[in-house]
Amino acid sequence: MNDPLRTALAELLDGLPPTEVTAAVDRLIANYRGDTPTHAPILRDRADVAAYAAYRMPATFEAVHSALEAFAATVPDWTPGSHVDVGGGTGAATWAVTATWPGERSVTVLDWAEPALALGREIAAANPALKDARWQRARIGGDLTLDATDLVTVSYVLNELAETDRAALVDAAAGAARTVVIVEAGTPAGYARVIEARDRLVRAGFRIAAPCPHSAACPIAPGTDWCHFSARVGRSSLHRQVKGGSLAYEDEKFSYVAATRLPAEPAPARVVRRPQLRKGQVLLDLCETEERLRRTTVTKRHGDLYKAARDAEWGDAWPPYDPAS
Ligand SMILES: C[S@@+](CC[C@H](N)C(=O)[O-])C[C@H]1O[C@@H](n2cnc3c(N)ncnc32)[C@H](O)[C@@H]1O
Repeated sequence: MNDPLRTALAELLDGLPPTEVTAAVDRLIANYRGDTPTHAPILRDRADVAAYAAYRMPATFEAVHSALEAFAATVPDWTPGSHVDVGGGTGAATWAVTATWPGERSVTVLDWAEPALALGREIAAANPALKDARWQRARIGGDLTLDATDLVTVSYVLNELAETDRAALVDAAAGAARTVVIVEAGTPAGYARVIEARDRLVRAGFRIAAPCPHSAACPIAPGTDWCHFSARVGRSSLHRQVKGGSLAYEDEKFSYVAATRLPAEPAPARVVRRPQLRKGQVLLDLCETEERLRRTTVTKRHGDLYKAARDAEWGDAWPPYDPAS
C-alpha cells in the first residue's frame, strides 16, 4: 500500500482505546455481513469511521487500484482530468486513482455520511494530489445528478443500495462520466451486482474495457460461478488484533467492471483463476474475446510464451499485450 496512506491510517488509531476500535470493527463486520441495504448511514461517528478506515481502507484501496491498473492498460495515453467518487466514504478510491495516475486533478467525493467525509478529508491531507478535493454530502437515490467528469468510481457501495438506487446511481454515472469503474466484494452477490451494472452501462452505449475482453454478455451461466479477482493486502496491527494470527498479508477478493466511452483496447483474453503451475507446463483459465471461457495449457515448447505464463497472475491480460505499441 501507499506509504503516506498507511502512516495516516496508523495515526488515526493513536489515542483511540483498542477495545473501542475492536468493538467498532466487530459491529461493522456484523453490519456488512447483513448484506442488506440500509436507510441510514452505518458510519455514524468517529470511532466507526476510524475503525472502517483502518480496517477496510487498505483492502478497498488495493482492490480499486488493481481494477484501475487493468483499465489504465487499455488506455495507455489517457489520464483522467477529473474524478468523482460516489459513496466514496473515507476516500480509498481517490487514493487509488492518484496511485494509478499521479498528479492533481479535480476530485469530488460524495457520501451521505458526514463523519466519513470528515475523516477522509483529514487523511487526504497526507496526499498532495488530494489537497483541493471536495468532500460533499450527497444521498444516492432517484434524484442523484452528477457533474460531467472524466471518471466516476463506485467502490463497495452497490451492496448498500436497494435495486432502484443501484439503477439510479449507474444511470447518473453513465450520464456524467466518460469512464465508470465499479468495484464490489468478490462474492457471488457482489459479482451479480457488477453484472447488473455492466449490462446497464452497455445499454447506455459504454464499451467494457476490463476485466472482460469484450462487451457481449458474460459467458458465465448465472448461478454457476462468479468472476472475481484477488489483491494482496499487507495486514496492519489492527488486523492482527481483530482477527488474531500472524499472517503478514491477506488476499482481498473483488469483482469489478471498467466501462468507457474512450477508444480503449481491451486485453485479448484475461486470466480468471489463479494459474496452476505444473512441471514444464502452466494451466491458464481464460475469458476470451470470443465470449467464452477456456482452459489453455502452455508448455516449455511454447518458448517465450511459457516464460510469460510462469509469471502470469490471476487477473492479468493474456497473452501480455501492449496497446501503446
Ligand atoms: C462500504 S463503504 C465504501 C466506502 C468507499 N467507497 C471505499 O471503497 O472504501 C460504503 C459507503 O457508501 C455510503 N453510502 C451507502 N448508502 C448511501 C446512500 N444512499 N447515499 C450516499 N452514500 C451512501 C456509505 O456511507 C459508505 O461510506
